[in-house]
Amino acid sequence: MSERHRADVLVCTCPACTRSGATALLEALREELARRELAEEVGIVETGSRGFCYMGPIVVVQPEGILYTGVHRNWWRKRWSKAASSNA
Ligand code: FES
Repeated sequence: MSERHRADVLVCTCPACTRSGATALLEALREELARRELAEEVGIVETGSRGFCYMGPIVVVQPEGILYTGVHRNWWRKRWSKAASSNA
């Protein structure tokens, strides 16, 4: 994880994940971070293959180190909504 970010989101942008929607996913993530004013706190890193190409798009969230498979563009809203409701 970079020292200047509270968290980093690593998105595989190799061909199989790109075919599965990684580009739309990155776009949605950037929009969501900007909308929540978190773009300075959460880094986005495009990575090489994680070896789970048939399960893409693949995302790893650091510092937790959790790997998510089959992540689609609306996943971010659902994840943050869930996190916000559990913190309430
Ligand atoms: S192309 Fe993304 S894990 Fe292989």
